[in-house]
Amino acid sequence: MLILGVESSCDETAFAVVENGTRALSNAIASQVELHARFGGVVPEIASRAHLECLVPLLHAALDEAGTTLDAIDAIAVTQGPGLAGCLLVGLEFAKALAFRHGKPLIPVHHIAGHVYSVHIGRERDAWGEGTGSPPPDPLAPYLALVVSGGHSSLIHVRGAGDYVTLGETLDDAVGEAYDKVAKLLGLGYPGGPLLDRLAVNGDPARFDLPRPVLNESHFHFSFSGLKTAVARLVEVRGRESFGEQDLADLAASFQAACIDVLLAKSARALKATGLKRFAIAGGVACNSGLRAAARQRLAGTTLALPEPEFCTDNAAMIAGAGYLAARTRAGRDYGINAEPSLSLR
Ligand code: KG4
Ligand code: ZN
Repeated sequence: MLILGVESSCDETAFAVVENGTRALSNAIASQVELHARFGGVVPEIASRAHLECLVPLLHAALDEAGTTLDAIDAIAVTQGPGLAGCLLVGLEFAKALAFRHGKPLIPVHHIAGHVYSVHIGRERDAWGEGTGSPPPDPLAPYLALVVSGGHSSLIHVRGAGDYVTLGETLDDAVGEAYDKVAKLLGLGYPGGPLLDRLAVNGDPARFDLPRPVLNESHFHFSFSGLKTAVARLVEVRGRESFGEQDLADLAASFQAACIDVLLAKSARALKATGLKRFAIAGGVACNSGLRAAARQRLAGTTLALPEPEFCTDNAAMIAGAGYLAARTRAGRDYGINAEPSLSLR
């Protein structure tokens, strides 16, 4: 089964063709990073317009790379939400028009379900099989998923294919958002995650004493705005100009250590509370080298699934994959569905 995935919920336009839910035959992504860099964050109106401009060429790039045509595609999976309203609309309306014009089933996908699914996607993966009837089982389930991105920090109990229980979410900023805001206040650029990650490699994580918000509270929610504010206060008090190269590296490492401590301590507690033995980390921040290394070290004894970096940040292969799970229950020819900026994970 060949599924075309379409993703446009934030600042990446993406199309991908995925075979039988696992093998990415293509993964075309047009990033708008340069457009938003000078603003230090995503500007929704600019993002919607940029999506519109690259839809058609990117669709063809994805089909060409996969060596296929729209005729051979079995269904179209598209991100319905959550995300920026204007951005979601562009991708969803395009997918609806494509599906209607070519008579294909349309599968609405939750963006976070896509991230959760990304651990199953690869260029060289074995197919899950063509099964009919009920959805294919998720071979990792049941497991705990930590989804960490620019828009989300969530702990999710994945009970089975497409069966999610959200245990915790961020109470304010998402962890990727905190990375981006800290990088912005340090004048480093956008997106901040990869820049701080690289800087942190040569830094001392114990140099600056930063808070670990809500670490010791028994719930599974996160909070990162206080940590970001602590960095802002530190920079304000000392003066940004007084930070040399090593100071910046130490600050990046100290900030990263605080993020990792909170993320992994909460995850470990959720693993214990649920009795789950398998753990996946997904979303853009799952690219983080410090987080990946610390998870391997601190959660020894837990089976750890990490997506390949190509499938961590927003992409359409994960949407096509999650669409494969939902194909038998959600695919239809209802071309009247709407974008849902606040769609909840069901
Ligand atoms: O999943 P994603 O592409 O978009 C959302 O759904 O939000 O995640 C983007 C986020 C950005 O905040 C970016 O700074 C962060 O992921 N990110 C990283 C790294 N690479 C990307 N954060 C920390 N370390 C990284 N290496
Ligand atoms: Zn995302």
